[in-house]
Amino acid sequence: MAEVILMGKDLVKQYVRGKREVINALNHVDCEFERGKLYMIMGPSGSGKSTLLNVLSGLDKPTEGKVIFEDEDISQWDEERLAEFRRKNVGFVFQSWELIPTMTALENVEAPLYPLKMKSREIRSQAISLIKQVGLYERMDHFPTELSGGEQQRIAIARALISKPKVIFADEPTGNLDEDAGQSILRLLKSVTRRGTTVIVATHNTGLRSFADVIYKMQNGRLSG
Ligand SMILES: Nc1ncnc2c1ncn2[C@@H]1O[C@H](COP(=O)(O)OP(=O)(O)O)[C@@H](O)[C@H]1O
Ligand SMILES: [Mg+2]
Repeated sequence: MAEVILMGKDLVKQYVRGKREVINALNHVDCEFERGKLYMIMGPSGSGKSTLLNVLSGLDKPTEGKVIFEDEDISQWDEERLAEFRRKNVGFVFQSWELIPTMTALENVEAPLYPLKMKSREIRSQAISLIKQVGLYERMDHFPTELSGGEQQRIAIARALISKPKVIFADEPTGNLDEDAGQSILRLLKSVTRRGTTVIVATHNTGLRSFADVIYKMQNGRLSG
């Protein structure tokens, strides 16, 4: 039976702009995410996609409602506990991939493991195996500026994977890429689901929908299946 790993329950997120204007970025959103599936949250710019990802991933707190991760409500946890939660369970891929420019591709992938008490040989072998998986073995000693946008995004995905997250959040991961590079990023994210990782992609690019196992549509802070 399919296992639900993450749930949003009656999520409301309000932003106050100026003195009076209240923006309902999330307007009573319910959603469920199962292990090993790729979810796509589609909707126009400003519809609340990033807000939803931020709330589900513990980067931000909902105004109302719950975020249930593996049967625990994380929505009211303090920042320290949330940081630990993110480090253990969550990987992020953003539109601007923000690799560290002074590190090679390989070192960028390794970096999340540097603070842990792991042997550098072990870190290296894990990083190399991920770099192979994203198809950049020949380029692992290159610096980010020597890689194309699509290649940089592949490295960012390998970096997100190295801590073996249960859920990957990808916010407009193809935003800066051309059509072909965007498709190959989605193919890669889809391949990650085979190891049981849940992938949640926010995008306004309707050309990517064929990669989704489940599509949610977002409009004015409301979500529909
Ligand atoms: N920090 C913020 N302060 C005020 N309003 C915000 C903030 N972040 C997002 N918003 C507003 O919330 C709505 C949803 O934004 P967002 O989640 O970024 O949408 P999307 O990712 O779909 O483009 C928009 O109206 C946006 O202007
Ligand atoms: Mg956004």
